[in-house]
Amino acid sequence: MEHILCRAEDVSDDEPLRVTLADGHAVTVYRWEDNFYCTDDLCTHGDASLAEGYVEDGAIICPFHLGSFCIKSGAPRAAPCSEPIAVYEVNERDGNLLIQR
Ligand code: FES
Repeated sequence: MEHILCRAEDVSDDEPLRVTLADGHAVTVYRWEDNFYCTDDLCTHGDASLAEGYVEDGAIICPFHLGSFCIKSGAPRAAPCSEPIAVYEVNERDGNLLIQR
């Protein structure tokens, strides 16, 4: 199912954006090096919103225990994160960002 996340201009380089989809699932959208990425918002290690974290070197740093995930692949980059996070390919159409889920 296709979901419209937001307008492309709503996502800034230094601030991940949390978006709640129509089905209630929350994702986080990132702009990094002129590309858009999207992951689940909930950290796989605990009850943290990744949108409250920050991006460094292509990884989202979780605000709770400073574990991290690659925003491209979802692979864990730093402990205590060990389970990958779901990632969604972001497409841009008419200035809107969309994912399939
Ligand atoms: Fe994210 Fe622990 S909740 S690193």
